[in-house]
This record gives sequence, C-alpha cells and structure tokens, in this order.
Amino acid sequence: MNILLLGSGGREHAIAWKIAQSPKVDHLFIAPGNAGTAQTGTNVDIKADDFDAIRSFVLANDVQMVVVGPEDPLVKGVYDFFKQDEELKEIPVIGPSKAGAQLEGSKDFAKAFMQRHHIPTARYKSITAENLEEGYAFLESLAAPYVLKADGLAAGKGVLIVDSLEEAKKELGDMLGGMFGEASRTVVIEEFLDGIECSVFVVTDGKDYKVLPVAKDYKRIGEGNTGLNTGGMGAVSPVSFADHDFLQKVEERIIRPTVDGLREEELDYKGFIFFGLINVKGEPMVIEYNCRMGDPETEVVMLRIQSDLVELLEGIAKGNLKERILLQDPRYATTVMLVSGGYPEAYEKGKVITGLDKVSPENILFHAGTKQENGEIRTNGGRVIAVSSYGATQDEALAKSYAGARAIQFDKKYFRTDIGFDL
Ligand code: AMP
Ligand code: GLY
Repeated sequence: MNILLLGSGGREHAIAWKIAQSPKVDHLFIAPGNAGTAQTGTNVDIKADDFDAIRSFVLANDVQMVVVGPEDPLVKGVYDFFKQDEELKEIPVIGPSKAGAQLEGSKDFAKAFMQRHHIPTARYKSITAENLEEGYAFLESLAAPYVLKADGLAAGKGVLIVDSLEEAKKELGDMLGGMFGEASRTVVIEEFLDGIECSVFVVTDGKDYKVLPVAKDYKRIGEGNTGLNTGGMGAVSPVSFADHDFLQKVEERIIRPTVDGLREEELDYKGFIFFGLINVKGEPMVIEYNCRMGDPETEVVMLRIQSDLVELLEGIAKGNLKERILLQDPRYATTVMLVSGGYPEAYEKGKVITGLDKVSPENILFHAGTKQENGEIRTNGGRVIAVSSYGATQDEALAKSYAGARAIQFDKKYFRTDIGFDL
C-alpha cells in the first residue's frame, strides 16, 4: 500500500518511523516532511494544507491512504475535501471530518459537547463582545487563578492563566478585542483545576476505539515547569499515576461517552482523539480535546505500540477496529527535545547540527525542525530534534535520552534536564 502522511514535525517523523516498519507499506510519502522523515520515506514538497496539490499527488502516485499529522488540515476540512471528490472519495483519510475536528477547532464547541454528554470538565462560560458583562460576573463568581481561552486555534498560545480578577477582566476585554485575531472573538472562561496532567490517545473508527499508551508531556521551557509555554520539551510513557483504576475511570467517564457522543451527533470521526486530562484528587477531568496526536507525546507513544500501526489504521478506515489487536510494549519510553536557544521567543535557524552519528544505536532520533542542505543537516525551527529511548525503568530510559541529547551539537542548543521529575 502507498501511504501519504501530512505534516513536518517530530510527531510526523515518529509516525513515519512506525508506519515504515509495516510490511504492508510499499511507499511512504511525507508532505512536506523534514530531514528526518526523508530517512524513512520520500518527502514531497507540498504544504500539509494545500488540498489541490495533495489531490494531484495522490492521484498521480496511487496513494491508498492519507494520514494527517497536524490539526490545521483537519480543521480546514481535508477529510471532507476527499469525501466530496469523485476520484478521491474511496481513499481513506485518517482524521476527523471538519465537523468532528471542532473538538479541537472550537473550545466553545468542545465545552458544550462535554456538557451535553456529561463528560467531566471545568465549569465554564463562553463570552463574546455582546455578553461581556456576563463574563465579568462569571469571573467574579470564581476564585483565582482565572483561565481564559481563545475559542479558535491560536498556535497553542491562546490560553491565559492570570492571578488577579482585575487582570482577568482586562485580558478578557483584550482577547475579545482581537488579541488572537478571529480566534478570540469568543473567549471561554473556565474554573481553574488543580492537579497533574497527562495525555490519553485513542484511535477510533467512529464506533469502537483502542486506547494507545498514556504519556505525559512537559510544556514549559524551564526546569521545574517554569517559564513560557512551548510546543513541548519532552515526554514520558507510561505515566505512574495513570494506573489501571484511573484509566478505567477515563474510559467509562470520558472516552466511551466521547466516541458515543460523536456518533449520536453524526460527527464523522475516524482517526486519533487526544484527551488532555488532569487528575484532580484521583478523578480525571478533560482540559482539552485535540483531533490529532500530541507532540512530543507521539515520540514516546509510537515506541510503545508493539502492533503494526498500519493494521490499526486499516481498521479505522474499514470500520472494523474492534477486530484489530493493539499490543503495548511493557518498557518505558522517554523523549528529550533539543531546542534552539531563545525558543519559544525569537531564535535563529540554519545552525549546522553535528554528532548525529555519535549517538548510541539505542537512541531513536525524531527530527522536528531540521532541513538538509548541501549534505548538511541544519536547524530549521524552535524545536529541533527529539531524542527518544527505551528503558526497563523511566530513569534508565531518561539516562539514555540525555546521553544522546549531549552527543548532538548545534550552536545555542538547549534542553530541559528534568523531564519526568514529577512522577
Ligand atoms: P489547553 O490549550 O486548553 O490545553 O490549555 C493549555 C494549558 O493550560 C493546559 O495544558 C493546562 O496546563 C492549562 N489549563 C487549561 N485549562 C485549565 C484549567 N481549567 N485549569 C487549570 N489549568 C488549565
Ligand atoms: N503536547 C501537546 C500538544 O501536542 O498539543
């Protein structure tokens, strides 16, 4: 089978690495990919949301399945684009329809969906310029800190957590005034939840689901979860507190009602669901949904899927996921992200990366922001390379990831040295 994977980050390299191991795959194409994905398949110079170019490529290269990495093409309707095209409609797209992708594309939609299906989540109110006074009143009814979320996609930057009521009211006004453009014309105000977070992923064919290995990511730039939010500085799997009892609650109260709710509401959803969860005194609650895999969680989750991923993806496409088997690798997996100095604020690109050949064969490198130029691999983003490893314990896996992180060099390289510290 020929597969086209859309995207260009560490998540896509990890998915490509796993897909490429399947005996079912003849050709794997990645659009647009990066220097790492070029080692597992063929990069195609097409943007992940250029639907017309994707269409031509798919038809010209006999692509039999499209796997979507990032949320953007999904929220823009790549699934529907295929379904509505006479020549493309039989080719499965792994990812939800535009309507289903609203779980991520609109926080207001996601909160209302959870309310309709009695899925545990923080109390909230959606505010626009028309009901600003209600927003102020709701803020006054809450205790600090205050959580304000832009309704739409804001490249991971649309959530503000502020300490004072006065500041929260001001930020609310600014957000509605266009702080995040159209994305914050509606703002979701939420009650603050106190607990530890984890990421649960499922694949679903719209009827049944399989739960993938649980992971935890580390979003802040600084040690001890301090400083600015980033795309993610590292991840571990499994997650010690997400034990059997906790995951049973997650399935009963969150996963099953979500999959059933999507079906009842006729929201076409065949792909990955990412549940951003928080453990509040042993009770799981939903912080957010995403309609794709997490990054850098995928860089550990793929290591812990023992079964053939393409088998599962076929199950999604054919609607017989129930008959497929998902085996998890019992080992721990960790990943440490090497980033460009300055990230997540201004940083330089184009730095030569050396030492890639010095890392132990036990390290699995997933490129995030890299580019191959005249035979050299250079940095091409804030997050550069994820260094993943297995271990019999979390500490053993981390020690290997850190040895790899030190062996790779580029000017102004930075990484966190405390991934997994809170587990
Ligand atoms: P989101 O984009 O909705 O995942 O929010 C980004 C981050 O903000 C989350 O990963 C949490 O760390 C934090 N956050 C979001 N909502 C809440 C909440 N209701 N209570 C506490 N923290 C939150
Ligand atoms: N690691 C969080 C995300 O992918 O959104």
